Amino acid sequence: MSEAKAPQQRGGQTEDVSAERLAEIGLRFEVDGEIATITLDRPDKRNAQTFATWSALARIGDSLPEQVRVVVVQGEGPSFSAGIDLRMFTPEGVPGQGSFGSAARLDSASFGQRIQAAQQGFLWLRRPEIVSIAAVHGHAIGAGFQLALACDLRIVADDVKFCMKEPALGLVPDLTGTKPLVELVGLAKAIDICLTARFVEADEAMRIGLAERVVAGGDLAKAVQDKAAELLSTNRDAAAATKRLLQGAQGRTLEEQSAAEGAEQIKRLKALFGAE
Ligand code: ACO
Repeated sequence: MSEAKAPQQRGGQTEDVSAERLAEIGLRFEVDGEIATITLDRPDKRNAQTFATWSALARIGDSLPEQVRVVVVQGEGPSFSAGIDLRMFTPEGVPGQGSFGSAARLDSASFGQRIQAAQQGFLWLRRPEIVSIAAVHGHAIGAGFQLALACDLRIVADDVKFCMKEPALGLVPDLTGTKPLVELVGLAKAIDICLTARFVEADEAMRIGLAERVVAGGDLAKAVQDKAAELLSTNRDAAAATKRLLQGAQGRTLEEQSAAEGAEQIKRLKALFGAE
């Protein structure tokens, strides 16, 4: 495995995704051929997330090596992630990152930019060129649940406990989780899950379409590895084009989708038979 090279140059800023900087934030990032693995690595704090976690995730997305086709997101220790670092609710906040109290005093435009910046850490996991897999075990609470929802697929251990805790804390889920949740489980179930902030365990996650597969905790890494190998067995460009089609399907009519299929197929056949 190789670690990300740093620093990377993005948007005129020096973006530090060095292993040392990521370790300070509580993340690891490793690339092994076509598979990248992001590990939330603050197990003593149950992989609680901060603004620094989200901007580092965004930088990882920006600097993802081109050969990568599968991105695995996993958590070290007993929990996938206990969500946002609860120090954000204290007057002192998270050192160097402020608190919700200080953020709430920002004007709405600046606050909105901060939220958008945080969301960038999640949105790239949907890119057509990659398939992202959340390997989820233990608690996936709030931002942890939303990080799992940001991935294309969720393979879970039988001890998984998803919880959208935000409404219980007076917040809304704003880390891009509401749309995939509704798309996966439907509006009524999403309302039930979010507005009760209850735990969704493995059996239910499987039944309602939140999880693709449930395995014993000890088998999680192998199950994810097997899925990655299956995903890598198809043609890279065809996989990206098919993901684009599937992602666009719900927003199009049947006629529009058929036309989109045709347009993608023409590009594929021209590429395959050298007639570009
Ligand atoms: N932020 C900061 N620290 C945390 C967080 C968190 N979200 N969650 C756990 N920790 C810390 C604990 O304070 C404790 O630290 P300490 O050892 O210094 O006392 C350590 O992690 C272990 O926590 P325990 O509660 O002892 O671990 P346990 O395995 O028994 O329980 C659980 C895990 C269920 C995840 C529990 O820690 C918990 O409920 N955490 C808070 C979850 C939460 O409300 N998150 C916010 C969701 S909203 C959002 O994300 C926007």
